[in-house]
Amino acid sequence: MEKVHVLDHPLLQHKLSILRNKDTGVKEFREIISEVAALECYEATRDLPLKEVEINTPVATGKFKVLAGKKLAIVPILRAGLGMVDGILDLIPSAKVGHIGLYRDPETRLPVEYYCKMPSDIADRDVIVVDPMLATGGSASAAITFLKGYGCKSIKLMNVIAAPEGITCVQRDHPDVDIYVAAVDERLNDHAYIVPGLGDAGDRIFGTK
Ligand code: PRP
Ligand code: URA
Repeated sequence: MEKVHVLDHPLLQHKLSILRNKDTGVKEFREIISEVAALECYEATRDLPLKEVEINTPVATGKFKVLAGKKLAIVPILRAGLGMVDGILDLIPSAKVGHIGLYRDPETRLPVEYYCKMPSDIADRDVIVVDPMLATGGSASAAITFLKGYGCKSIKLMNVIAAPEGITCVQRDHPDVDIYVAAVDERLNDHAYIVPGLGDAGDRIFGTK
């Protein structure tokens, strides 16, 4: 069973509280969710392999560490996952981005796929699936199942807020996937929204509703 990493860095917690506030407007919400994604990415990439190369500084020659060329892909779950992409690309500009469109059917609450476009070499890449909310876990689990169908073997999941139910779901369906979150909240309400959560992440990022 892989791990749930609850990232408790003070900067992350401060920014998350701004996202939770219902009075935070679209512009600030968008900026901050991108910053939160970057801070989470910093932790989620802690195990990236390094190699030594020779570099001439202005003073001397030495052997120094650079990333070992591991190929990464970011896969946002549309729509809300898009809000996390730019913050991650600020840190890993060469990562490729695949998109998977899922929405929760309001009646059944089950994920419905409506779009998919992946890099052609997705199976060879380390994948980070991103979505601000892990509620029932249905969307994240479906996205990961989909990526495994493409041959992906190294997958991490990055969310901003998770409900315990969502973590249980992903760990049951995908025990090989590490989960990175800034908070694990209390529970889901009758509409499968996270309590206290931050509301509808997609609506708050895109200003819909
Ligand atoms: C939200 C959220 C997740 C999903 C989480 O998306 O961004 O994708 O719900 O719920 P789950 O864990 O119960 O599957 P939503 O379906 O509202 O679509 P949107 O991003 O287009 O707003
Ligand atoms: N999707 C959201 O955007 N928010 C929730 O709390 C649950 C699902």
